[in-house]
Amino acid sequence: MILRTIRSHRLAATSSAHLAGSWWPPAGLRAKSTAILDDDAPPLVEPSEGGTVVTVTSGKGGVGKTTTSASLAMGLANRGFRVAALDFDIGLRNLDLHLGCERRIVFDFVNVINGECKLHQALIKDRHQPNLHMLAASQTREKEALKPEGVAEIISQLRSEFDYVVCDSPAGIEHGAQQAMFHADIALVCTNPELSSVRDSDKMISIIQSKSRRAEEQRDPVQQYLLITRYEAEKVVGEAMLSAADIQEMLGIPLLGVVPEGEEVLKSTNLGRPVITQGAECDTGAAYEDVVKRFLGEECPLRFTQPKEKGFLSGLFGK
Ligand SMILES: Nc1ncnc2c1ncn2[C@@H]1O[C@H](COP(=O)(O)OP(=O)(O)OP(=O)(O)O)[C@@H](O)[C@H]1O
Ligand SMILES: [Mg+2]
Repeated sequence: MILRTIRSHRLAATSSAHLAGSWWPPAGLRAKSTAILDDDAPPLVEPSEGGTVVTVTSGKGGVGKTTTSASLAMGLANRGFRVAALDFDIGLRNLDLHLGCERRIVFDFVNVINGECKLHQALIKDRHQPNLHMLAASQTREKEALKPEGVAEIISQLRSEFDYVVCDSPAGIEHGAQQAMFHADIALVCTNPELSSVRDSDKMISIIQSKSRRAEEQRDPVQQYLLITRYEAEKVVGEAMLSAADIQEMLGIPLLGVVPEGEEVLKSTNLGRPVITQGAECDTGAAYEDVVKRFLGEECPLRFTQPKEKGFLSGLFGK
């Protein structure tokens, strides 16, 4: 019943109007064809305000937003783009750990908003990738410290200096999450293959459609893309998890990628290096590489949606 409700609601909301005025990815980087992103999107219009704001969001907690923000930011920086990664998770920051710069935080987001330091004093340059900078969330303040005018000023400054501003949203749909999505040009909606996650993503998609700055100013809508995270193809075959196709149908936004469950993610976080830096050495790293390619409009077939073929010995012993 819930499945049906979400599906009918979302499919009704997803019309050609949802993708109308599509300006992303940039014309030069657009894929000639891809089975995943919408091939028939209308002519592209360039953004007018400098850098592009990409918000990684979900509604539900613990689905992989920060993991995704770190890998997307690093992946874009590795491609030569200047990237600022912003942690909006006031009181529960984690992006600094994923990027391995937790010991170098002197000033944070709220310090900048309150005028206690300049933005460039709070931006931390990545030790390995000079194109990547991070602005940490405050660990000790309340989410309300993200004053809307202050956030707007910071985003505006970052747009003028960076190609991409990647915003790591907190869980939920309250103040912090709303601030993180408000300025978005592009939203990546992280969803795990379980109903509660799909339902929370559905809610977040509606909020972004109606309450973003683009919606308020009646400009082209925020481009929303689905990223399915922590996917376990074996469990999908056993029907213990929703399939990527079902999730996409229910949410009705283009699928940017499927990131499999992988133990390398935790190891990478402990090392302070986003899992994308492992590249083809592990499926999760490779999946994030694919996501960056598609994000930049490159053709890249979908992987990691089918269970792995079992080897002869593991088949024999049932493992
Ligand atoms: N693809 C993955 N495979 C295995 N574990 C993952 C994967 N993605 C994320 N995780 C793990 O899931 C947990 C939550 O990840 P993460 O912190 O990125 O989620 P989040 O959505 O940012 O959480 P929160 O809502 O609390 O901010 C972490 O322990 C992380 O290591
Ligand atoms: Mg997080």
